[in-house]
Amino acid sequence: MSAGADRDPRKAVAEPAPRRILSRRKGALPEENLPLIMEVAPNEDYALIDSGAGRKLEQYGPYRIVRPEGQAIWQPALGAKDWENADAVFTGDTDEEGMGRWRFPGEPLGETWPMRHDGIDYLGRFTSFRHVGVFPEQASHWSHMERLIRSARRPVKVLNLFGYTGLASLVAARAGAEVTHVDASRKAIGWARENQEIAGLADKPIRWICEDAMKFAEREERRGNAYDIILLDPPAYGRGPKGEVWQLFEDLPALTDICRTILTPQPLAVVLTAYSIRASFFAIHALMRDTFTGLGGTVESGELVIREKSAGRALSTSLFSRWVAA
Ligand SMILES: C[S@@+](CC[C@H](N)C(=O)[O-])C[C@H]1O[C@@H](n2cnc3c(N)ncnc32)[C@H](O)[C@@H]1O
Repeated sequence: MSAGADRDPRKAVAEPAPRRILSRRKGALPEENLPLIMEVAPNEDYALIDSGAGRKLEQYGPYRIVRPEGQAIWQPALGAKDWENADAVFTGDTDEEGMGRWRFPGEPLGETWPMRHDGIDYLGRFTSFRHVGVFPEQASHWSHMERLIRSARRPVKVLNLFGYTGLASLVAARAGAEVTHVDASRKAIGWARENQEIAGLADKPIRWICEDAMKFAEREERRGNAYDIILLDPPAYGRGPKGEVWQLFEDLPALTDICRTILTPQPLAVVLTAYSIRASFFAIHALMRDTFTGLGGTVESGELVIREKSAGRALSTSLFSRWVAA
């Protein structure tokens, strides 16, 4: 009798997909540049007005918004009056994925409102996960990517994994790239498409794909499709549309490895951001440097921070590591 013959087929469970076998690549490590602290300063589209006592007060377009901020362990620089003047306050769970409620101290506000990033119009939205549809600290990556696309002076293909509401995809498309945007959330994809319309970029080539990032990348590898720039901004934990589980510490090495294999012969950059994880940027730096061994270029790593308007303190938002071609 074979080992599995006595199993009840009705109880059969799907075997987990075999893990990718990873081994260290040979060759010279890319140059390194660290620590690199990239900051977003207050600007006409967005400002961190003040922070402290576990909260942050931000200006998103026309609205002043208060949300929990666990890292703001200092005291606010502005007085209570400035904080009370907010248009919307998120109350509820302070953990990153926690659900909560929005309170509107003045007039009740609609679900969405007009926002702008560097001339690109899009929609802000009060979501139950306390996010509003944009991570302003990412702007440092977007302007870097935009420069790479414009100065390439050739067709550039960008893959935006975990792309959310599509700001990075819109910046890339406006700069002339052909963009593939992947996210597991149907809602986020719908919102991103809406943003494309509102931005007046409907004629730009963006493929919107609702899929598990890992599955999509694996398929691109099988099909032999390739990209010049890959952005990946994975959560610590997430789920694909068919329940696929994403765990950053378990899955990131395989995903970065696939990213290397789906680069064009003359790639420009691979940009990884990570947040809400217990790790230093040295961890993702070492992973990225090993992954891009033998390709030349530089791996630069550090933190994305937002500079506060009131007292000039820097609020750290995420770790990043990016490989940039020579
Ligand atoms: C922090 S957001 C990315 C923000 C984006 N880079 C930006 O700056 O606008 C993380 C996104 O990952 C998506 N996500 C979570 N698990 C996923 C998975 N397994 N495959 C694809 N996307 C996933 C979520 O739906 C969410 O939109």
